[in-house]
Amino acid sequence: MRVAVCISGRGSNLRALLAELGPDAPARVVLVLSNRSTAGGLELARAAGIPAEVLSDASDASEWLGRLRAHQVDLLVLAGFLKLVPAPVIATFRDRILNIHPSLLPAFGGPGMYGERVHRAVLESGATVSGATVHLVDEVYDRGRILAQAAVPVRPGDTPADLGHRILELEHRL
Ligand code: GAR
Repeated sequence: MRVAVCISGRGSNLRALLAELGPDAPARVVLVLSNRSTAGGLELARAAGIPAEVLSDASDASEWLGRLRAHQVDLLVLAGFLKLVPAPVIATFRDRILNIHPSLLPAFGGPGMYGERVHRAVLESGATVSGATVHLVDEVYDRGRILAQAAVPVRPGDTPADLGHRILELEHRL
């Protein structure tokens, strides 16, 4: 299976995927796409010999579809991709787009809920557990069918960064 990984930032989940997908794995990362030319994960991809491309307009479905077709992509993985994927791309790749989100969806998801904002909202709510979710992507942020989840405790005195680090380790395993 030919996989495109979409990123907006440092790419630690991309790194975890590349570490897991050895030469005999049934899936191979053939493309890394970013909406930001400064995303750290692009360097990671290039160092691994994987084509790393920057979308000039992340809302332009034809640009997405052209790039995905050029690399014969079967599956899209959103690993810290913070833009909405255009609807025609979702329709073309129906049930073939995965996302990882740093909370136990459906709690603490939706527009604007990414990175430390998620962890801050969890701490403010008084929740005693949080975690990470892998789900299928449909037209609504963070709503698609859940495929996998794992939980961690929220500890007294946690800062958003503390909770984020604990969850990020879990994300890499998921
Ligand atoms: C991860 O924590 C991921 O769950 C989150 O962005 C981070 C990316 O880190 N995604 C979202 O919040 C999506 N709503 P990474 O670039 O180190 O993989």
